[in-house]
This record gives sequence, C-alpha cells and structure tokens, in this order.
Amino acid sequence: MCGIVGIVGNEAVAPLLVDALKRLEYRGYDSAGVATLEATGLDRRRAEGKLANLANRLEDAPLDGVIGIGHTRWATHGVPNETNAHPHFSENVALVHNGIIENFRELKDELESDGYTFTSETDSEVIAHLVSRNLKSGLDPRESARQALQRLEGAFAIALIFRDEPDLMIGARSGPPMAIGHGENSMYIGSDAIALAPFTNQITYLEDGDWCAISRNALEIFDMDGNPVERVVQLSVGSSLMVDKGNHRHFMQKEIYEQAEVVSHTLSHYLDFGKCEVRLQEDLPFDFAKLDRIAISACGTAFLSGLVGKYWFERFARLPVDIDIASEFRYREMPMAKNGLSLLISQSGETADTLACLRYCKSQGQHIGAIVNVRESTIAREASVVFPTLAGPEIGVASTKAFTCQLSTLASLAIAAGKARGTLSAEDEHRLVREITEAPRYINQALKQEKAIEAVAHDLAKVRHVLYLGRDTNYALAMEGALKLKEISYIHAEGYAAGELKHGPIALIDEDMPVVVIAPHDAIFEKTVSNMQEVAARGGRIILITDEKGAAAAAMDTEHTIIMPEVPDILTPLVYALPVQLLAYHTAVLMGTDVDQPRNLAKSVTVE
Ligand code: AGP
Repeated sequence: MCGIVGIVGNEAVAPLLVDALKRLEYRGYDSAGVATLEATGLDRRRAEGKLANLANRLEDAPLDGVIGIGHTRWATHGVPNETNAHPHFSENVALVHNGIIENFRELKDELESDGYTFTSETDSEVIAHLVSRNLKSGLDPRESARQALQRLEGAFAIALIFRDEPDLMIGARSGPPMAIGHGENSMYIGSDAIALAPFTNQITYLEDGDWCAISRNALEIFDMDGNPVERVVQLSVGSSLMVDKGNHRHFMQKEIYEQAEVVSHTLSHYLDFGKCEVRLQEDLPFDFAKLDRIAISACGTAFLSGLVGKYWFERFARLPVDIDIASEFRYREMPMAKNGLSLLISQSGETADTLACLRYCKSQGQHIGAIVNVRESTIAREASVVFPTLAGPEIGVASTKAFTCQLSTLASLAIAAGKARGTLSAEDEHRLVREITEAPRYINQALKQEKAIEAVAHDLAKVRHVLYLGRDTNYALAMEGALKLKEISYIHAEGYAAGELKHGPIALIDEDMPVVVIAPHDAIFEKTVSNMQEVAARGGRIILITDEKGAAAAAMDTEHTIIMPEVPDILTPLVYALPVQLLAYHTAVLMGTDVDQPRNLAKSVTVE
C-alpha cells in the first residue's frame, strides 16, 4: 500500500526522500511524488510508474528545500497517473495520505460548494483543502490539522507541511502505521522503520488515533482531543537490517533461498533441539489444556498457513479450529467459544482486515494470540501474546519465507497444545520435534530441484490456466501454489482439494490444462492417484510433485515429475512449499513480469 516519508532536516531533502521511498517500494505502488518547501513556496514533482521516473523528473528540475514529504501511491480512488499522485496541494498546504477516506464524497461536496477546486480524482485531496480552509478561518496550523482530522472517517496515515511553517510537519495515524525517527537536529516520519533506516534507528511509533507536530528538535504527540500523550522512543530492530538482493536476481528468489536459515531461527525460538521438546518462551495468558476452540483469521498466504495449522491443531491436540478469511470473518458475527483462543496470522502485522478480526475477537472475550513477522506492528501490539516468526524483512510482494516461518510456528504451537492436552505423549513430542528439526536440511534438498522446476516453468509460461490439486495439508499448498502463480505471473490458477475435482473443476480438464498435483507418498497417496487417473483419462497434462516412492507407486505417464526428498508428514508443507514457490517464480521470470512488485498488488494491505 502507499508509502509515506517526511523529513524536517537541514540539507536538501528531495534526494533523501527518494532514497527513503525506494525502501518502501516493496509495499507496492503505481506512482510517486515529493514536495518540499522552497524559498518561493511549496513545490512538487510527481510521476506515474516507478520511482526511476520521479528521479528523472527531479534530475531535470531539482527541488531544494530542507523540509519535505514523499509518497508512493497504490491507487484506490482514481487511476494511477501523475495528477492523482501525491503530494496533493491546497493553497498553503502539501499533503501525503495512506488509507481511504470513506466520507470523502460528502466532504468534497461541502468543499466544492465553498469554492474549492479539485484537481485529482482522489479521496486524499479533501484533507489538504480541509486544512487549508481551517487556516484561512484563522486557526493556527496545528489546530487546523487537528480539526480537519476530526472530520475524517476511514483509515489514514498522513503527513502535512505548510507554506508558512519552515519548521513544522504534522503527522497522524488512524489505521495504517506511522513511525517517527529521531535524528541529530532533524526528524523523520515514515510508514515503517525500514524507510528511515539510513537516517536513524531511534523510533517512536504513533498509536492509533495519535497525531503529532514534528520540528527539527522536537516531537509532540497528541490524541484527537488535543491532549498531549507520551510514546516511548525505541531502538528499531527492523531498521538495522539492510535490505538488499545480495547476488540474487529478485528479492523473491533471495527469500526463497533464505528459508532453511529463517525456518531454523524460528524453530529454535520454540523448540529445544537438544531435548527434542517444545519450549515456548512466551508467557501464555491461557492454558492450552483448557481451551475449547481456536479461531484463526488471516488473509492470503497467511490464511493458507493457518489452514495447515488447522490440520495440525486438530490432529495433534484434538482441538477444533475454525478458520476464516479475515475480510469475511470481521462481518460474520461469529458466536465465539467461552474459552477460546483467537490466532491472527500476518507477516506485516498491519493487514486491516486481520486487525479488525483481532478487535472483534477481543470484544468477544477471546484470548488473543498473534503470529507476526513484524514485532513492532499494530497486530503484535494489540495481541495479548505474540508468537514471532523470525523470517527477517520480507520484501518480495509474494510471501515465501514468511509462509514457511508461519508453518514452523504453527507446528510448534500445535505440538505444545497436544502436549498440554495430553493428546501427544512425551514420546510423540520427541519424535515430532526430532522430525521437524530436520526441516532446514530437507528445504535445502528441495532447492536442488530448481533446474527441473525451471524446465516445468517453460511449459507453464505458455498457458493461460493451471489447476493445482492436493489433499490434507497439501490442499492448502495447492491453493498457495495457485496464489503464488497468479500473483506474479498473472496466469489464472486455482487450487483444489483433489477429492473435489469431480464435483466441478474436472469439466475444465483437456489437453491444454496443466494440473499440478502435490502428492507425497503418504497414507492418502492412493486417493490422489485416483484423481490423477481421472485427469489423465481426459487428456489433462499432469505435473506431479512427489517423492521417489510416490513416483514409483503412481506408475503413470506424467508430463513432468519433480522429486522431493522423502519426509515425515509434519514436514510436507514446509518442504513442498519450495517447489510451488520456485515454479511460480521461474514462470514469472520467463514471462518477464515484475516479480517483486507485481501489478496491482501491495505488500502491506492497510485498507479494507
Ligand atoms: C501473498 O503472497 C500475498 N502477497 C498476500 O496474500 C499476503 O499474504 C496477504 O496480503 C496477507 O498479508 P499479511 O501476512 O501481511 O497479513
């Protein structure tokens, strides 16, 4: 989603703003802009498309000015063109906004009848005009901003600068996160701490409903009624991690390759490898033994990791799990169990729908656990217990290493739950922990199949539709494979439970339809083979991902067979995630798409 940066500094800030925006590119965007306060007043440069276009504009017509704001826009209201790009100006104000102003039509009508002319189709522009109108009525800049903010409904993070205030920037947050960076005789604002990493690692996070006045040497934070509030300065861990591709072509490829290492970090947080036991470091505000139910809510890939988690919690801990897509759950008014645990899963920890579920579950008296990758995120801060995934910053829009780290966390928690509930014996626990500890080794072995997978990608890159099939936890992986392929290659793909094939999707099968079947040689392998026979009988093209035993037992003609190491059941989702990620990656590379920032997508979805 949109990225915001702002600097109140003491040298020309435009190039610094563009550098900081580069660090927010991973969030996804389709236009960008910066505005600074020049000797002659506010000025801006904006450009459609990538930041390189904005950098070219600035090279042709540089901006000086030591206070400024910058923005990467992910279009919601109005097409992604230069006119709709931020910053938006009103007479004496420049504004950048992330989020959606739900009552913008009403505000726009009101402002238009007051004589304000709109130059963009965005909802954001109303904020600039509201502030400007307040200034005109005689309010000071802070009060002008505060009163304008009070008129807004919806989600927003904003930064504002003023034509007549060379040492003042206003920031505010109601929904999307905002980080304030403390420098030497300079202050910064950003959508996340990563954007501010080159400047400072001393960060203050605004809480929901905060707004702030920033000058070179001071930060004052207030609530919406204008009362001062205290927020701590903390050292950001995220900002110390430099974000680069190393010798990989894309962040996604780098992140696929990092999985053995980050899965190992994550597992070592939850497991005692020496004793082969789970060892949760978190102070649990509930007792697994006494839980009646778990409710998982999440979006996209995080939802699919939760779906795997459902199989594990039910199997190992005999604990029933409801799982919902967060955007559905938040409105379906589900009656919740008396002693229930709600698990919210999110890489970014900022996904608007998942956050709304957290708040609903809290209102229903549930215990709230968050599985998040960004420790300082809103979901992490609002949960009663945080289960971290130690994936490090994930930059590629397509989630890869966060997924396998979520799986590692869920597997550990399911074993902990089974142990606490007495559904797993000490022997079962030792065996499962021993098995899962092998994940990094098998992940590395899976990576060795990259060449074979690339060969399959050459075929997929020529088709328009692909079907993925799997059973049990591989059903979730089938959906994850389809999601990965469609998001980065733009090929239409669907993931189905293999047994569901004959209830509809089999009608799609013909000689043009590749069917990726994820089927390790497990207890239900034969069932999946029957489904493959149904595909083969109709001329479908089978791409089988299995192990040596599965390849031998299937004994049928496939277009391609990818051989994975033989792994215990608990490891299947962790290891088979690799071929589906690599298949999507290589197909997208062959199709020449923007792998790390695919069209229309955002990394952190902070609006509904
Ligand atoms: C996955 O590849 C996605 N880009 C997307 O589905 C993502 O998993 C989803 O938006 C949830 O994000 P979160 O984990 O940050 O909450």
